[in-house]
Amino acid sequence: MHVTHLSLADFRSYARAEVSLGPGVTVFVGPNGQGKTNLVEAVGYLASLGSHRVSSDAPLVRAGAQRAVVRAAVRQDDRQQLVELELNPGKANRARINRSSQVRPRDALGILRTVLFAPEDLSLVKGDPGERRRFLDELVTARSPRMAGVRSDYDRVLKQRNSLLKSAVMARRHGGRAVDTSTLDVWDEHLARVGAELLARRLELISALRPLADKAYERLAPGGGPVGLEYRGVPADGGDGGDRGDGDSGGDGAGGAASPAELYEGLLSSLRDSRRAEMERGVTLVGPHRDDLVLKLGDLPAKGYASHGESWSFALSLRLASYELLKSEGHEPVLVLDDVFAELDVQRRARLAELVAPGEQVLVTAAVPEDVPEVLAGARFAVADGEVVRDE
Ligand SMILES: Nc1ncnc2c1ncn2[C@@H]1O[C@H](COP(=O)(O)OP(=O)(O)OP(=O)(O)O)[C@@H](O)[C@H]1O
Ligand SMILES: [Mg+2]
Repeated sequence: MHVTHLSLADFRSYARAEVSLGPGVTVFVGPNGQGKTNLVEAVGYLASLGSHRVSSDAPLVRAGAQRAVVRAAVRQDDRQQLVELELNPGKANRARINRSSQVRPRDALGILRTVLFAPEDLSLVKGDPGERRRFLDELVTARSPRMAGVRSDYDRVLKQRNSLLKSAVMARRHGGRAVDTSTLDVWDEHLARVGAELLARRLELISALRPLADKAYERLAPGGGPVGLEYRGVPADGGDGGDRGDGDSGGDGAGGAASPAELYEGLLSSLRDSRRAEMERGVTLVGPHRDDLVLKLGDLPAKGYASHGESWSFALSLRLASYELLKSEGHEPVLVLDDVFAELDVQRRARLAELVAPGEQVLVTAAVPEDVPEVLAGARFAVADGEVVRDE
């Protein structure tokens, strides 16, 4: 697929922007702070309903404006679709598909798919588990947009269960009315049911991603691997046991093979086991919201051990693997490379460029055009003073 036109209104630094795009490589060039990343961030937002830079929508709306509108015309095979999102911080966002009446933003998922590489990706390797959960869940959703609903159900159930636990803690401390444990039982079942669905998708994703990430790493940094991806969580522990200090004994390493029913039962019994601790702490201590994806380089965890360059190669491999996976499933995504070449040495630059160059559409940003390898020559836009102008 590829974007044929991008329109922004009051998005980030842009009062308005209209950019016509073609397949192949497009490079956005301009000095720092001129709005290159803002443009591709908008593309990523249309595909994932989130920004790779911030976790809330407020910074995406131009200072002083009430709302932002991002629109893209997307071509897949012979079909052209228009997807439009209106961002209303503090209120519900809205979406429109092909100018029809409004739909929920998540109904617009799947029209555009992207895989975005950015300097922020280093935190996939070095950052907190939340970064890796987000990576998994965004990819789960890109493969199957229906999962956006499951994710939001999970968040909702978790919130409700947490507030029930909190009131149990308050009741005990202040002598209020004790929380009915049968109510909690019901929430356990909800959480286990939705959680198992998410967990099953994550595990399936990791199995599919594993060989692709290893191959990508080998191509970016020959001889440096192998890389390993292990899910760590309850009940589907992929490795050496949970380390949450709550007495999890960990699993038997049979992670990926569990059936949804087994995952449900496993989650439910983990919830039961941690009930006492949860009643003390007032939060849900087990479930997909606490899990992690452990990245290994050889026998060692990448986090805390891998060098800066190795961490970079790992992060890039995860993105390349995501690209290969979506492509193999018939959803070739738009590739977005935001300022990545400046971060890499010449050799890895060249290898990465070669791997992405055949993509149906590749959008690249760079402050220094010389950082972009020759194989990525293509259309070029100059970005400066709020204008995006095609170089002829
Ligand atoms: N909500 C907003 N309203 C107005 N301006 C904003 C908003 N958010 C960001 N900006 C401005 O946008 C500019 C940053 O744009 P962007 O990140 O796209 O730069 P860039 O061209 O990618 O730069 P670099 O080469 O440094 O990565 C900053 O000057 C910032 O102040
Ligand atoms: Mg930038």
